[in-house]
Amino acid sequence: MTPRDVGVVVADDEEAAARRVAELLGESARAGQEIVLTGGSTPGRAYAVAAELEPDWSRAGVWWGDERCVPPEDERSNFGLAKRTLFDKVEHEPARVHRIRGEDEPDSAAAAYERELRGTTFDLLLLGLGPDGHVASLFPHSPGLEENERLVIPAEPKLDPYVERVTLTPPVIRAARSIVFLVTGEGKAEAVAGALAGPPDPAVPGSLIRAAGGKTLAILDNQAASRLRD
Ligand code: 6PG
Repeated sequence: MTPRDVGVVVADDEEAAARRVAELLGESARAGQEIVLTGGSTPGRAYAVAAELEPDWSRAGVWWGDERCVPPEDERSNFGLAKRTLFDKVEHEPARVHRIRGEDEPDSAAAAYERELRGTTFDLLLLGLGPDGHVASLFPHSPGLEENERLVIPAEPKLDPYVERVTLTPPVIRAARSIVFLVTGEGKAEAVAGALAGPPDPAVPGSLIRAAGGKTLAILDNQAASRLRD
């Protein structure tokens, strides 16, 4: 299967994939760029290594692609993940941390985040990929996949954790200068094949996400890449 409009790096294992992403995050932070982080269980190691590689994040702007509607100190919070693994570990925290207010009502959190990010061009936007092919909190066949006006919307969860979400929409994700998928593990292999090598398909939201004017890169481990070789 040939990847479509996306560069693919296959690392030997999960740790090597995390390191590649950490290097990109570190370079971006050093350059004072606008960085969009993701959540879930995969990126924590990349954030921890990024804190070791670049202890000065003071020039970076940090944003999120999506958030679970929980308070920032909740262990399910995507902001909380970045705080524990990255911000609390660096010598100089990012001066501009733009978190989605998960503790607020989803509609108003989405509207507030849209006001905050309007006019910003993201330099590096990191995404995970769900086993069902979702990215950020854009789930298969969800109406948000067709959103053309709003930049941030509330979303219903389709997978654990079953809390409401707030998510960026496809147009603002596609406008990033660089989109980087970090995906590891055998359980994601089929989703990776559909998202990276399949045709654009709302059943696999990742397949609809490519940087419109920039570059898209996928950093995978061997297991996640296994179906790309079929
Ligand atoms: C979230 C995410 C989500 C995540 C994927 C992969 O808030 O859950 O941002 O899109 O990236 O679900 O998550 P895992 O790394 O846990 O597999």
